[in-house]
Amino acid sequence: MSKVVSGPLRLPADRNAVIAGVGAWLPPNVVTNHDLAARLDTDDTWIRTRTGIAQRHIAGPGIATSDLAVEAGLRALKSAGDTPVDAVVVATTTPDRPCPATAPEVAARLGFRGVLAFDVSAVCTGFLYGLATAAGLIAAGTAQQVLLIGAETFSTIVNPEDRTTAVIFADGAGAVVLRAGTRDESGAIGPIVLGSDGGLSDLIQVPAGGSRQRSSPRSPMAGEEYFVMRGRETYRQAVERMTSSGEQAVEAAGWRMDDVDRLVAHQANARILDTVAGRLGIEAERRVSNIEHVGNTAAASIPLLLAEAAASGCIVPGHRILMTAFGGGLTWGAATAVWPDLDVLPAT
Ligand code: UT7
Repeated sequence: MSKVVSGPLRLPADRNAVIAGVGAWLPPNVVTNHDLAARLDTDDTWIRTRTGIAQRHIAGPGIATSDLAVEAGLRALKSAGDTPVDAVVVATTTPDRPCPATAPEVAARLGFRGVLAFDVSAVCTGFLYGLATAAGLIAAGTAQQVLLIGAETFSTIVNPEDRTTAVIFADGAGAVVLRAGTRDESGAIGPIVLGSDGGLSDLIQVPAGGSRQRSSPRSPMAGEEYFVMRGRETYRQAVERMTSSGEQAVEAAGWRMDDVDRLVAHQANARILDTVAGRLGIEAERRVSNIEHVGNTAAASIPLLLAEAAASGCIVPGHRILMTAFGGGLTWGAATAVWPDLDVLPAT
């Protein structure tokens, strides 16, 4: 196997991406574990003890990913003082349609017709891949202010009869506004660590509907258009990759793990989060979590958690935060930031 790995993305000191706003949105419909147990061979105790999830928000028919993205985007823009942006990036696994991307429509609906806009596809690591992309646009001088949104209607690709995934994945959106600034100011994003291993792409995938296994009206796909996950192996990979990328990001930032005030990890599974935090030596008081009431919202998970934690005061200005994520691809990543002073609206 090749030993080549990507180095951390180090942003230029005088054109560093800085967080200027944050916001989130959850569709109002709540599905509890008891609701799921009424139609699946599962129960509240199993779901709580194995995943840490008690309920999740599910977008009903007629609500698309762009609808969630627009709501989260509006809140992030408000938090940033209703500033205009010149780029919109949407990280999603569940675009409104296979073609075109969701971001241009989101940009237009937010009043930014004409700006560059595109989607990023890295499943649950999508927000951190999007963060690197947005920070790169700012570093290159291509954009001054970027709206980065993680948005998912994951319930639209989960097989409602698959108890191993239907209990975990859920819908929601979170967004940040990034502006050009300097490395030493509050809100500055630190070095970003990203990685992938396509040799394990079969651990998490939607097998059909793309160019490999094509949709055809004459060959029904027997459910292969749904998301499938090999849970146990994914679990092991998630622990390894979130831990190692977290360590690399902290080291690249010139921090020690003791310097981290808040771990903001992709909300994959509460047991994964406990193990990752334990390996990093980050005790419970320095972690934030919302998996109990939102489940695993994939690319929306980190910005949704940032918005909720900032709104509730679990993250305060000056906190040094460590973000880490893992998802299909396989993909993983981590980044640091110093939290700025922002007004944040509640997510619902
Ligand atoms: O978001 C990024 C990527 N995703 C992740 O990182 C998620 C990674 N994986 C996981 O979170 C966990 O592997 C799951 C939550 C999916 C499963 O938990 P687990 O502790 O790994 O369970 P398991 O797959 O080892 O299954 C244990 C038992 C099995 O029964 P047997 O074979 O022991 O009789 C399953 O059939 O639990 C059974 N099971 C369930 N039972 C009740 C699986 N799902 C359920 C369920 N309710 N919903």
